[in-house]
Order: sequence, then structure tokens, then C-alpha cells
Amino acid sequence: MGRLDNKVAVVTGSATGIGAATVKLYAKEGATVVCADVNEEDVKQTVDEVINDGGQAEFYSLDVSKEESVSEFADYLNDKYGKIDVLFNNAGIDEEGGKVHEYPVDLFDRIIAVDLRGTFLTSKFLLPLMMEQGGSIINTSSMSGRAADLDRSGYNAAKGGITNFTKAMAIDYAREGIRVNSIAPGTIETPLVDELAGTKEQEEGQEFREAQKWVTPMGRLGSPEEVASVALFLASDESSYVTGEDIAVDGGIMA
Ligand code: NAI
Repeated sequence: MGRLDNKVAVVTGSATGIGAATVKLYAKEGATVVCADVNEEDVKQTVDEVINDGGQAEFYSLDVSKEESVSEFADYLNDKYGKIDVLFNNAGIDEEGGKVHEYPVDLFDRIIAVDLRGTFLTSKFLLPLMMEQGGSIINTSSMSGRAADLDRSGYNAAKGGITNFTKAMAIDYAREGIRVNSIAPGTIETPLVDELAGTKEQEEGQEFREAQKWVTPMGRLGSPEEVASVALFLASDESSYVTGEDIAVDGGIMA
């Protein structure tokens, strides 16, 4: 028996990194997983892997920052499944923008639109699909939502917003049997880190990784699978009395 048998799970930002690892784990545990992303090419590969492994997954082209796209997605899910049990709001972008007085307005808007507004929109439109039977929403905040980073105030604002938005939803829907928690990853080896700091092969990427290892008590970066296993715990009934929490998965950085 799987820990997510008979559950319909939606994972946003599921083409690569943490989202892709979570899709595979949710499917292995018996969920039917709807993989929603703007990146069709990579997400199709994830879906193929799940299906070849005997799991159930499908792809939906979704831009979480666009109200119309999310609203149409909710209609699609309602027509096809009539409900969802798990929503992992994981889509996110990050980019350095400099100090606030030099930070580009369009970059600030873009990060808030995808990371924070996207989490609001998918929650708003998909919550009605959980009302009858209850469910679990998992948001992706960050250690950058708890403490600040140099030159990344837009990301800090978005992720800090997600942490408290999570708590707001948790108390709003506790009586409906809907639990809402967030995960605060530390530095996880994913394409987002490649884009932000450079790949493992590039000199600046190597320097960044060495610095992250130095500040992380466990002395290493995390893997997408290590975040996925916490996303599984929060999605499953094993966390049935956990709501409004922000769980760090960071090798001890925020301890
Ligand atoms: P990633 O870049 O591999 O994954 C992000 C996913 O979001 C991609 O599949 C991308 O196509 C998708 N996406 C971007 N814009 C979208 C949009 N408008 N609509 C739908 N999907 C969209 O990176 P990673 O690291 O797996 O990121 C997942 C989440 O984890 C993000 O929210 C990120 O901020 C968060 N996070 C990551 C950390 C890390 O060290 N990798 C640390 C803390 C938080």
C-alpha cells in the first residue's frame, strides 16, 4: 500500500529540481500526479519516467503567475477528477537584482508574480476542489524567507510572504480539514542554483558551493529528494495534526 493511494496531487514547478523529485516520489506512493509547469520539454520527460515505472502522471501547461491560466487549470481538474487532495506550490524563480535603490522594478514584479502571487493564485482557484474531502497544501518558502540575502530583496520579500501566507491559509481552512504548511529549503542542488550562482563546472559555481558547504552545519548541499521526502510527509496522513508550520530542510543552516 502506498502512502498516497487514491489521492490526486498537483505539483507546480515540476519540470526539474525539487518538483520533479517530488512528482516521482508521490507517484511511487500511489498518487495520480498532475505536473503543472511552463517548461513543457522537461516536464514531459518526468511524466514519461513515472509512466514507464508504472505510476500515474500527466502534464498540464500552466503559468502560475497568470490568473486566467490558473483559473482554466482549476476547471480542467474539476472536469477530469472532480477533486484534488494535495497541492504542492513549488514553482519559483530567483535572480540577483542588487541593492534596493538599484533593483530593477520589472525583476521585483516578476519574482513576486511567480513566487508569491503564483502561490496565492493556485491556492485560491484550487482550494474549492479540496473543500469537500479536505486535503494538504504545501508551499515552498525558503531559508531566504526567514533571513536576508545580499542583493536578493525581491526573493526575500516573496519567500517571507509565502511563510506568513501559509499561516494565514492554515487558520482559515483548519476547520475544513485542509492543512497548509511550507517547506524552507536551504541550498539544494538544482537548476535554480546553476542559474543563480553557476554550474558545478564553472569556477563561480564551485566557489558558491564551497561557501555554502562552509556555512551549512552538515557540510554539504541538499538533494531534491531530501526535500521531496518532507513534501511526502506533509502530503500524507502521517502529518494529520500538523498545520501552519514552516519546516526547514537545510542541513542546519537556520538552527
Ligand atoms: P528549478 O528551477 O529546478 O524548479 C523551478 C520550477 O518552477 C521549474 O520547473 C520551472 O519551469 C518552474 N516555473 C518557473 N516559473 C513558472 C511559472 N510561471 N509557472 C509554472 N512553473 C514555473 O528549481 P528548484 O530549486 O527545484 O526550485 C523549486 C522551489 O524551491 C522554488 O520555489 C525555489 O524558490 C525553492 N527553493 C529552492 C532552493 C534551492 O536551493 N534550490 C532553496 C530554497 C527554495
